[in-house]
Amino acid sequence: MNGVTGRMGYRQHLVRSILSLQQQGGLDLGDGTTLWPEPVLVGRREHALRAMAEQHGIEHWSTDLDAVLADPSVEIYFDAQVTSAREDAVRQAIAAGKHIYCEKPTATSLDGALELARLAVAAGVKHGVVQDKLFLPGLQKLKRLVDGGFFGRILSVRGEFGYWVFEGDWQSAQRPSWNYRAQDGGGIVADMFPHWEYVMHETFGRVRTVQALATTHVPQRWDERGKPYDATADDAAYGIFELDGGAVAQINSSWTVRVNRDELVEFQVDGTYGSAVAGLRNCRVQHRSATPKPVWNPDLPATEAFRDQWQEVPDNTEFDNGFKAQWELFLRHVALDEPWRWDLTAGARGVQLAELGLRSSAEGRRLDVPELSL
Ligand SMILES: NC(=O)c1ccc[n+]([C@@H]2O[C@H](COP(=O)([O-])OP(=O)(O)OC[C@H]3O[C@@H](n4cnc5c(N)ncnc54)[C@H](O)[C@@H]3O)[C@@H](O)[C@H]2O)c1
Repeated sequence: MNGVTGRMGYRQHLVRSILSLQQQGGLDLGDGTTLWPEPVLVGRREHALRAMAEQHGIEHWSTDLDAVLADPSVEIYFDAQVTSAREDAVRQAIAAGKHIYCEKPTATSLDGALELARLAVAAGVKHGVVQDKLFLPGLQKLKRLVDGGFFGRILSVRGEFGYWVFEGDWQSAQRPSWNYRAQDGGGIVADMFPHWEYVMHETFGRVRTVQALATTHVPQRWDERGKPYDATADDAAYGIFELDGGAVAQINSSWTVRVNRDELVEFQVDGTYGSAVAGLRNCRVQHRSATPKPVWNPDLPATEAFRDQWQEVPDNTEFDNGFKAQWELFLRHVALDEPWRWDLTAGARGVQLAELGLRSSAEGRRLDVPELSL
């Protein structure tokens, strides 16, 4: 596990996924055997790794990626490093014959992402990319509504993602500074469009076109050491996407917006038979039979509490942490060859949408999103 000292690597992948699997006694494969995931922590800073290993009682850690990749007992390479470091490391791990699981975006360019997918296929290793949002309770409920035919014909999707990320001067920033430097692989399009690609693709239909405006609203920020730097990467993106099946999705992504929503991300879906608003955890619906008939009259105060007219979709199941849920499926794919579709080609689709989104913004036009083939 490379990059485990980072936000994602530590909290979601190590603690909430792998260590949590250990705490539950390993992964029950259902055939009388149990898979026991044994992490090897890899990173650049010896003291940080040692401290983490001691804190969690983890036996194996190393600052020498080559040596770990040369170890035949290591079966899977996982990468949650900064985005700009991923491509080289994954390439190296494929060459060493390891199965690959990694964070998104899989590379900083579509060419690089496709190359990784091709290399993994040629090497015959199993490969996967984190697509955690699919496993969020709110989006699982939304998918359930789609599959159950709740919406009728889906017309539109409005996504609102974001929160205020502090500049770092008078209050420290709550995200790493590399996210705000284009030269270090930062930018909200590179970060979030890969998520929106698989969310739209898997829930509503493949993204056919993209039109985006990416901008940097806050041009100066302060880094982890309190030093000012130029924020060269986009911190907000306003995107419009046409989807297979005819729906139009509009998604705002911003680190420069203050939250006036119930959750940090929300999608409103409107269909001919009903509408839904899904967040990370919750999902509310309004069926056409319960749709009010407001009349536009700015001279009168609002006569109805519109938000109160929606109905909560029940859980109907227990939702585990999304990262852990996907890890379990990947481990089953590796161990039992169970079906798996969130591979490096799927990862490349996310990079493609980010790349085309940035190009659309730079050129000021709508672009087709061609279907990828390896
Ligand atoms: N799936 C998600 O929801 C999600 C959310 C946030 C971030 N991510 C992805 O996870 C990856 C890590 O993001 P993060 O927010 O955890 O970042 P982070 O800065 O907190 O962690 C980065 C990790 O990479 C390591 N690293 C290796 N080479 C480095 C270098 N040259 N400079 C700096 N650090 C280096 C760091 O030591 C650290 O362990 C990114 O690719 C990001 O896109 C995914």
